[in-house]
Amino acid sequence: MNRIVTAFALINAFAGPAAAADASTDTLARGRYLVTVASCHDCHTPFKAGPNGAEPDMSRMLSGHPEGMLMPPAPRLPAGPWLMSVAATNTAWAGPWGVSFTANLTPDAETGLGRWTLRNFIDTIRSGRHMGRGRPILPPMPYPMYKHFTDEDLAAIFAYLQSIPAISNRVPEPLPPAPTTAARP
Ligand code: HEC
Repeated sequence: MNRIVTAFALINAFAGPAAAADASTDTLARGRYLVTVASCHDCHTPFKAGPNGAEPDMSRMLSGHPEGMLMPPAPRLPAGPWLMSVAATNTAWAGPWGVSFTANLTPDAETGLGRWTLRNFIDTIRSGRHMGRGRPILPPMPYPMYKHFTDEDLAAIFAYLQSIPAISNRVPEPLPPAPTTAARP
């Protein structure tokens, strides 16, 4: 009897940590999958010219608008159905809201999400405001869709984002809309 108990204890001792490691590997794999299919790279990984056209530059994975890429003033569009302009990197966007720059989602403590908690992340995505209480998040960040992710999905996305290489890249603050002709004195 004692021997059987010992055998069970041994099996449990091995199953415990191994099972926990599997769970976290699963969570990271799920986060990676969600980040891929929900197109986070489309806007948060700067695009570069590749052999088949523009493609995300994975050496700068999810690090947002490159700090060294200073954007000239956005072109003034004529009246008409064209609404916005976008940088070749897909990381700077000018429209009626002003100019927005995609955020650094890597775990860098100073310039990325390194100091964020899961709570900060969930509050941001659910409310469409920085940290759930700061300024509203500007277009084209698709939080109106992403707020429907389950808590479990958001936890997996956040866990994955915290596991990728940290890249120091300070993204500029957004710019307000250019004054319109009518608003000028
Ligand atoms: C169509 C472009 C686009 C896509 C796709 C996109 N984002 Fe964003 N995201 C942005 C822009 C632009 C900003 C900056 C908005 C601002 O400064 O108000 C941003 C900001 C953020 C922020 C920062 C919010 C803050 O308060 O600092 C987080 C977090 C974020 N995105 C996460 C994600 C995740 C996770 C995905 C994929 C599931 C994703 N984004 C996909 C464009 C996008």
